[in-house]
Amino acid sequence: MPKKEILIYPDKVLKSRAHEVDDINLDIVTLAEDMRHTMHTAPGVGLAAPQVGEPIRLILVDPSAGKDESQLIVLINPVIAEKEGVETDIEMCLSVPETSVEVDRASRILVTGIDLKGNEVRMEANGYLARIFQHEIDHLDGKVILDYASSLKRSIYLKKRKKGTL
Ligand code: NI
Repeated sequence: MPKKEILIYPDKVLKSRAHEVDDINLDIVTLAEDMRHTMHTAPGVGLAAPQVGEPIRLILVDPSAGKDESQLIVLINPVIAEKEGVETDIEMCLSVPETSVEVDRASRILVTGIDLKGNEVRMEANGYLARIFQHEIDHLDGKVILDYASSLKRSIYLKKRKKGTL
């Protein structure tokens, strides 16, 4: 099971809007499996296809970070249909190393999308799970946690990245 390379911001793919998936073929199923392996090896609690260089609307979410298989969610063309409340917390991202940013997120969301079998999915998420979904769906819209950071924090990150110390 190949592990994918995780792109690091400001890679172009991470700054672009990803395309809708219109056909769930074997390539998509294989990609999701490789992404699961990549996410759990990192380890991380979420991964979006653009982070491994695939500009498509596919995300993986697993609040257990691989400890409990039943918590893994693979969602294609995810949409936040409803959101309410707001919570502030620190987030990190596998594509933005050594950086944490305080991000406001809706505390409760309704997410829709399709699973790997092509079934429509509609699920409610709260708190931490809702936060992971919003973070991963941001990736599909070319947005990362640095977009929520101060311009100072952003420029320090970009300087370090340019120097090769990140
Ligand atoms: Ni991320």
